[in-house]
Amino acid sequence: MSGVNEHISQLREDFMRGTLSEKGIALLPHLQFEQWMQEAVDAKVNEAQAFNLATVGADHKPSARVVYLREFSENTFYFYTNYQSHKAHDIEINPYVCATFFWPELERQVRIEGLARVADKTKSDAYFQARPAESKLGAWSSPQSRVIASRDVLEELVKKNTEAFAGKEVPRPEFWGGYVIEASYYEFWQGRKSRLHDRIAFVKEEGAWKIERLAP
Ligand SMILES: Cc1cc2nc3c(=O)[nH]c(=O)nc-3n(C[C@H](O)[C@H](O)[C@H](O)COP(=O)(O)O)c2cc1C
Repeated sequence: MSGVNEHISQLREDFMRGTLSEKGIALLPHLQFEQWMQEAVDAKVNEAQAFNLATVGADHKPSARVVYLREFSENTFYFYTNYQSHKAHDIEINPYVCATFFWPELERQVRIEGLARVADKTKSDAYFQARPAESKLGAWSSPQSRVIASRDVLEELVKKNTEAFAGKEVPRPEFWGGYVIEASYYEFWQGRKSRLHDRIAFVKEEGAWKIERLAP
Protein backbone atom coordinates (compact mmCIF):
# COMPACT_ATOMS: atom_id res chain seq x y z
CA MET A 1 0.00 0.00 0.00
CA SER A 2 1.37 3.43 -0.92
CA GLY A 3 2.05 5.94 1.84
CA VAL A 4 -1.03 8.01 1.11
CA ASN A 5 -3.27 4.94 0.94
CA GLU A 6 -1.88 3.76 4.26
CA HIS A 7 -2.61 7.21 5.65
CA ILE A 8 -6.20 7.57 4.42
CA SER A 9 -7.12 4.03 5.43
CA GLN A 10 -6.34 5.00 8.99
CA LEU A 11 -7.93 8.45 9.10
CA ARG A 12 -10.72 8.43 11.66
CA GLU A 13 -12.75 11.45 12.62
CA ASP A 14 -15.29 11.28 15.40
CA PHE A 15 -18.02 13.88 14.95
CA MET A 16 -18.96 15.62 18.17
CA ARG A 17 -20.11 19.12 17.28
CA GLY A 18 -23.86 18.87 17.36
CA THR A 19 -27.06 16.91 17.18
CA LEU A 20 -30.18 17.08 15.03
CA SER A 21 -33.60 15.92 16.18
CA GLU A 22 -37.13 15.82 14.87
CA LYS A 23 -38.03 18.25 17.67
CA GLY A 24 -35.20 20.66 16.96
CA ILE A 25 -35.51 20.81 13.19
CA ALA A 26 -37.50 23.56 11.43
CA LEU A 27 -40.99 22.68 10.22
CA LEU A 28 -40.09 23.56 6.62
CA PRO A 29 -36.89 22.39 4.93
CA HIS A 30 -36.01 25.69 3.29
CA LEU A 31 -35.99 27.32 6.74
CA GLN A 32 -33.67 24.61 8.03
CA PHE A 33 -31.45 25.12 4.99
CA GLU A 34 -31.39 28.87 5.56
CA GLN A 35 -30.43 28.38 9.21
CA TRP A 36 -27.62 25.96 8.38
CA MET A 37 -26.30 28.12 5.53
CA GLN A 38 -26.29 31.13 7.87
CA GLU A 39 -24.43 29.10 10.48
CA ALA A 40 -21.93 27.92 7.85
CA VAL A 41 -21.33 31.53 6.78
CA ASP A 42 -21.04 32.69 10.43
CA ALA A 43 -18.58 29.85 11.13
CA LYS A 44 -16.54 31.03 8.09
CA VAL A 45 -16.78 27.62 6.47
CA ASN A 46 -14.51 27.67 3.43
CA GLU A 47 -16.62 27.88 0.24
CA ALA A 48 -19.89 27.40 2.14
CA GLN A 49 -21.77 28.25 -1.06
CA ALA A 50 -20.11 25.48 -3.11
CA PHE A 51 -22.08 22.33 -3.78
CA ASN A 52 -21.60 19.17 -5.72
CA LEU A 53 -24.09 18.95 -8.56
CA ALA A 54 -24.86 15.48 -9.89
CA THR A 55 -26.61 14.98 -13.21
CA VAL A 56 -27.42 11.99 -15.40
CA GLY A 57 -27.53 12.30 -19.15
CA ALA A 58 -28.80 10.31 -22.09
CA ASP A 59 -26.20 7.56 -21.60
CA HIS A 60 -27.45 6.97 -18.01
CA LYS A 61 -23.97 7.74 -16.72
CA PRO A 62 -23.93 10.07 -13.71
CA SER A 63 -21.50 12.96 -13.61
CA ALA A 64 -20.79 15.43 -10.83
CA ARG A 65 -18.97 18.69 -10.38
CA VAL A 66 -18.77 21.57 -7.92
CA VAL A 67 -20.69 24.78 -8.66
CA TYR A 68 -21.59 27.84 -6.60
CA LEU A 69 -25.00 28.48 -5.16
CA ARG A 70 -25.73 32.14 -5.95
CA GLU A 71 -29.22 32.55 -4.51
CA PHE A 72 -31.87 30.50 -2.75
CA SER A 73 -35.35 31.06 -1.46
CA GLU A 74 -38.33 28.83 -0.73
CA ASN A 75 -37.18 25.51 -2.29
CA THR A 76 -35.43 27.20 -5.22
CA PHE A 77 -31.65 27.14 -5.67
CA TYR A 78 -29.84 29.14 -8.36
CA PHE A 79 -26.49 28.45 -10.00
CA TYR A 80 -24.91 29.82 -13.20
CA THR A 81 -23.05 28.04 -15.94
CA ASN A 82 -22.57 27.49 -19.65
CA TYR A 83 -25.70 26.22 -21.45
CA GLN A 84 -23.53 24.11 -23.79
CA SER A 85 -21.63 22.35 -21.00
CA HIS A 86 -21.78 18.69 -20.06
CA LYS A 87 -24.12 19.42 -17.14
CA ALA A 88 -26.40 21.54 -19.37
CA HIS A 89 -26.70 18.74 -21.94
CA ASP A 90 -27.55 16.32 -19.14
CA ILE A 91 -30.22 18.62 -17.69
CA GLU A 92 -31.78 19.16 -21.11
CA ILE A 93 -32.33 15.41 -21.45
CA ASN A 94 -32.98 14.66 -17.79
CA PRO A 95 -33.78 17.54 -15.43
CA TYR A 96 -33.45 15.44 -12.24
CA VAL A 97 -30.41 16.64 -10.29
CA CYS A 98 -28.90 16.14 -6.88
CA ALA A 99 -26.98 18.78 -4.93
CA THR A 100 -24.79 18.11 -1.90
CA PHE A 101 -23.21 20.64 0.41
CA PHE A 102 -20.46 19.58 2.84
CA TRP A 103 -19.58 21.89 5.71
CA PRO A 104 -16.75 20.03 7.49
CA GLU A 105 -16.19 22.64 10.20
CA LEU A 106 -19.78 22.03 11.35
CA GLU A 107 -19.74 18.29 10.55
CA ARG A 108 -22.79 18.77 8.34
CA GLN A 109 -23.96 17.63 4.95
CA VAL A 110 -27.12 18.67 3.10
CA ARG A 111 -28.50 16.74 0.18
CA ILE A 112 -31.13 18.26 -2.09
CA GLU A 113 -32.87 16.55 -4.96
CA GLY A 114 -35.14 18.16 -7.48
CA LEU A 115 -35.80 19.33 -11.00
CA ALA A 116 -33.55 21.86 -12.72
CA ARG A 117 -34.81 24.36 -15.30
CA VAL A 118 -33.31 27.30 -17.13
CA ALA A 119 -33.69 30.48 -15.08
CA ASP A 120 -35.54 33.56 -16.38
CA LYS A 121 -33.44 35.63 -18.77
CA THR A 122 -33.89 38.73 -16.62
CA LYS A 123 -32.39 36.86 -13.67
CA SER A 124 -29.41 35.68 -15.71
CA ASP A 125 -28.89 39.17 -17.18
CA ALA A 126 -28.92 40.76 -13.74
CA TYR A 127 -26.48 38.22 -12.32
CA PHE A 128 -24.16 38.46 -15.33
CA GLN A 129 -24.05 42.24 -15.18
CA ALA A 130 -23.03 42.10 -11.52
CA ARG A 131 -19.97 39.94 -12.30
CA PRO A 132 -16.45 41.38 -12.53
CA ALA A 133 -15.35 42.32 -16.07
CA GLU A 134 -12.80 39.45 -16.28
CA SER A 135 -15.48 36.90 -15.38
CA LYS A 136 -17.75 38.29 -18.11
CA LEU A 137 -14.98 37.90 -20.68
CA GLY A 138 -14.22 34.47 -19.25
CA ALA A 139 -17.80 33.37 -19.90
CA TRP A 140 -17.52 34.53 -23.52
CA SER A 141 -14.16 32.85 -23.95
CA SER A 142 -14.71 29.36 -22.57
CA PRO A 143 -16.35 26.68 -24.71
CA GLN A 144 -17.01 24.90 -21.42
CA SER A 145 -16.64 21.10 -21.39
CA ARG A 146 -15.28 20.92 -24.95
CA VAL A 147 -11.88 19.55 -25.80
CA ILE A 148 -9.42 22.31 -26.72
CA ALA A 149 -6.02 21.85 -28.29
CA SER A 150 -4.08 23.83 -25.70
CA ARG A 151 -4.18 26.58 -23.08
CA ASP A 152 -3.23 28.98 -25.86
CA VAL A 153 -6.64 28.50 -27.48
CA LEU A 154 -8.24 29.89 -24.33
CA GLU A 155 -5.81 32.79 -24.02
CA GLU A 156 -6.43 33.67 -27.68
CA LEU A 157 -10.19 33.70 -27.17
CA VAL A 158 -9.82 35.97 -24.15
CA LYS A 159 -7.61 38.30 -26.18
CA LYS A 160 -10.08 38.33 -29.08
CA ASN A 161 -13.06 39.05 -26.82
CA THR A 162 -11.19 41.68 -24.81
CA GLU A 163 -10.53 43.53 -28.09
CA ALA A 164 -14.05 43.01 -29.42
CA PHE A 165 -15.67 44.40 -26.27
CA ALA A 166 -13.11 47.15 -25.54
CA GLY A 167 -14.89 50.23 -24.21
CA LYS A 168 -18.28 48.52 -24.43
CA GLU A 169 -20.65 46.95 -21.94
CA VAL A 170 -20.11 43.16 -22.11
CA PRO A 171 -23.53 41.56 -22.70
CA ARG A 172 -24.49 38.15 -21.36
CA PRO A 173 -23.82 35.48 -23.98
CA GLU A 174 -26.95 33.56 -24.98
CA PHE A 175 -25.06 30.37 -24.14
CA TRP A 176 -24.47 31.34 -20.51
CA GLY A 177 -26.91 31.81 -17.65
CA GLY A 178 -28.70 30.43 -14.66
CA TYR A 179 -30.46 27.28 -13.66
CA VAL A 180 -32.94 26.99 -10.87
CA ILE A 181 -33.36 23.75 -8.95
CA GLU A 182 -36.86 23.21 -7.53
CA ALA A 183 -36.30 20.97 -4.51
CA SER A 184 -38.61 18.05 -3.73
CA TYR A 185 -36.32 16.25 -1.26
CA TYR A 186 -33.87 17.38 1.42
CA GLU A 187 -31.69 15.49 3.81
CA PHE A 188 -29.94 17.18 6.72
CA TRP A 189 -26.99 15.22 8.11
CA GLN A 190 -25.26 15.97 11.37
CA GLY A 191 -22.18 13.92 12.23
CA ARG A 192 -22.32 12.12 15.58
CA LYS A 193 -20.03 9.95 17.65
CA SER A 194 -19.17 6.39 16.54
CA ARG A 195 -20.76 6.81 13.10
CA LEU A 196 -24.25 7.05 14.64
CA HIS A 197 -25.03 10.23 12.74
CA ASP A 198 -28.35 12.06 12.68
CA ARG A 199 -30.08 12.09 9.29
CA ILE A 200 -33.41 13.82 8.90
CA ALA A 201 -35.12 13.94 5.52
CA PHE A 202 -38.00 16.02 4.17
CA VAL A 203 -39.94 14.28 1.43
CA LYS A 204 -42.57 16.16 -0.57
CA GLU A 205 -45.78 14.16 -0.75
CA GLU A 206 -48.94 15.61 -2.28
CA GLY A 207 -47.71 19.14 -1.69
CA ALA A 208 -46.82 18.62 1.98
CA TRP A 209 -43.45 17.90 3.59
CA LYS A 210 -43.13 14.61 5.46
CA ILE A 211 -40.25 14.27 7.94
CA GLU A 212 -38.38 10.96 8.17
CA ARG A 213 -35.33 9.84 10.13
CA LEU A 214 -32.85 7.72 8.21
CA ALA A 215 -30.36 5.27 9.64
CA PRO A 216 -26.80 6.51 9.33
C1 LIG B 1 -15.29 25.73 -5.89
C2 LIG B 1 -15.75 25.61 -7.32
C3 LIG B 1 -16.80 26.39 -7.78
C4 LIG B 1 -17.24 26.29 -9.10
N1 LIG B 1 -18.32 27.04 -9.49
C5 LIG B 1 -18.78 26.91 -10.75
C6 LIG B 1 -19.96 27.58 -11.14
O1 LIG B 1 -20.64 28.28 -10.36
N2 LIG B 1 -20.39 27.41 -12.43
C7 LIG B 1 -19.72 26.62 -13.33
O2 LIG B 1 -20.14 26.52 -14.49
N3 LIG B 1 -18.60 25.96 -12.97
C8 LIG B 1 -18.13 26.06 -11.70
N4 LIG B 1 -17.01 25.36 -11.31
C9 LIG B 1 -16.35 24.47 -12.32
C10 LIG B 1 -17.13 23.15 -12.38
O3 LIG B 1 -16.79 22.33 -11.28
C11 LIG B 1 -16.91 22.38 -13.70
O4 LIG B 1 -15.54 22.16 -13.90
C12 LIG B 1 -17.49 23.12 -14.93
O5 LIG B 1 -18.73 23.72 -14.63
C13 LIG B 1 -17.66 22.15 -16.10
O6 LIG B 1 -18.52 21.10 -15.71
P1 LIG B 1 -19.21 20.10 -16.76
O7 LIG B 1 -18.21 19.85 -17.85
O8 LIG B 1 -19.50 18.86 -15.96
O9 LIG B 1 -20.46 20.77 -17.26
C14 LIG B 1 -16.57 25.42 -9.99
C15 LIG B 1 -15.52 24.62 -9.52
C16 LIG B 1 -15.12 24.72 -8.21
C17 LIG B 1 -14.02 23.81 -7.72
